[in-house]
Amino acid sequence: MASGTRNVDRGRLAELLEAETRTFVDDHPRSAGLASSSSSLVAGVPMPWMRRWPGPFPLTVDDAYGGRFVDVDGREYVDFCLGDTGAMTGHSHPRVLAAVGAQLARGATTMLPSRDAPVVGAELARRFGLPKWQFALSATDANRFVLRFARAITGRRKILVHDWCYHGTVDETLVVSLADGRTSSRPGAIGPQVNPELTTVVVPFNDVDAVERAVSKGDIACMLIEPALTNIGIVLPEPGYHDRLREVLRRHDVLLIVDETHTICAGPGGCTAEWGLHPDMFVIGKTIGSGIPVAAYGMTAEIAERIESLQRDDGIDVSGVGGTLAGNAVSLAAVRATLQHALREEDFRHSTALAESWTRGVQEAFTAHGLPWSVQRLGCRAEYWFCEPPHNGAQAAAAIDHELDAFMHLWALNRGMLLTPFHNMALFTPFHTTTDVDLHTEVFSAALSALVG
Ligand SMILES: Cc1ncc(COP(=O)(O)O)c(C=O)c1O
Repeated sequence: MASGTRNVDRGRLAELLEAETRTFVDDHPRSAGLASSSSSLVAGVPMPWMRRWPGPFPLTVDDAYGGRFVDVDGREYVDFCLGDTGAMTGHSHPRVLAAVGAQLARGATTMLPSRDAPVVGAELARRFGLPKWQFALSATDANRFVLRFARAITGRRKILVHDWCYHGTVDETLVVSLADGRTSSRPGAIGPQVNPELTTVVVPFNDVDAVERAVSKGDIACMLIEPALTNIGIVLPEPGYHDRLREVLRRHDVLLIVDETHTICAGPGGCTAEWGLHPDMFVIGKTIGSGIPVAAYGMTAEIAERIESLQRDDGIDVSGVGGTLAGNAVSLAAVRATLQHALREEDFRHSTALAESWTRGVQEAFTAHGLPWSVQRLGCRAEYWFCEPPHNGAQAAAAIDHELDAFMHLWALNRGMLLTPFHNMALFTPFHTTTDVDLHTEVFSAALSALVG
C-alpha cells in the first residue's frame, strides 16, 4: 500500500498550516476569549477529546440545528462531524425535541419503566433481528455489559477484537496487536486495570485465518466487532469476510457481538440488516437518541434466558450491569421519536445520496490533481485517505498524517465546514443539501491546488 504523502512538500504544508492558523485566530476572538477564561477546566475543556480540533483553541458553539451550527463569533458552519455520530439524525430534530420536552415535563427518571419501553424494544427487534433488548447510557457501558454476559455465559475468560478497533473506553478493547502477535494496550491508553494480554486477543480486520487460529485455543468467549472499522478511518470488509467469520465463530461456540454505534450509517438496520449478519448480541449508542445519552443492547432469546437466570434477587444491583439512569424515561422517549421520525429509509436515501456525491467530488479532485489518494464510503459516512484504501487497522494507522489532517481540517473550517477531528470523515444528515456538498467539493479541490499546485 503506497502512502502518497511523502510527495507532499513539507515546507509548503507548514507554511499553509501557519497561514490557516492565523486566519482561524483572527476570525474567532470570542472563542479565543472563552478558551482563555476556561482555566477551571482540565486543559481548558470539559472533556479531553475536545482538544483534538485543529487550531490553538476549540470553537465555542452557540447554536446547532439540522446540519449546521453557529459559533460564538457568529460564524455559521456546515457540520459534517455531527458530534462524531451523536447527532447523525441532525441537531435538534424537531420531532425528537418535542418528544423529549414532553417527557421532561412529565418526569425524567423514576427507575420504573415508561410506556415507551416496550414500543422501543419491539422496533429495535424489528430492525436488527434480535428479540430481546436492554438499555444503557452510553455505547461504552453497553459494550462493557455484553462482554460481561459473554464471559458469564460461556465460562471463557478472553475476548477477541480487531486490531485498532474502538468500542468506547472499555479497557479490554483499547488494545492493538504487537509485531509478534501479542496484545498490548493501545498507544495513549491510560492506566489499564490489568495487562490486556490477560483479557484480549487481537486479530487483523479481514483476516479469518487469524480468527480461526485465535478461537481454536478454546478460551475465547466472544468476538466484538464493528462490521466495518470506522474509528481508524473507514476500512471495509472484503467480499465473503463476514460469512466466513460467522461460520468460524459458530463452529467454535464463540459469541458474535456486533457494535453498530457508527455503522448504523449503512441504513436503518445498520450493516446487520444490509449485509445479513447474524449476531448473538448487538450494541448501538450515540445517534439512536438523537444526542440524548442512551444506548441499547440486544440479544437472542436463549442468551436473554441465561442472563435472566444470572440476574436474580439482591444481586441484581451489584451485577456490574445497569446504572441508575439507564433506561430513563427521557432517553426512551428520545429513542422512540428517533426511530419513528429519523433513521428511516427515506432519511438514509437522502443522506446516502449526499455522501455518494461528496465521495465523487473528492475522488474527482484527487484525479484532477494526479494524487494516488482514495475515498471510502459506508452509507451516509465517507472518508478520504492520503493513500490507497487500507485493508486493516494497522495499514490504516500507518497511513495517518497528522500534519496533513490538521491542514485539511483547518482549511475547511476557515471556509465554513467542520469535519470530524479524528481522521477525515464526513457524515450526512437529511438536513444537509447538495449546496453543502458542492461547497465541500470546491473548497477541497482548492486545498489540493494550494498543496500540490
Ligand atoms: C463503534 C463504537 N462503539 C462504541 C463507542 C463508544 O460510544 P460512547 O463514547 O458514546 O460510549 C464508539 C465511540 O466512538 C464507537 O465508535
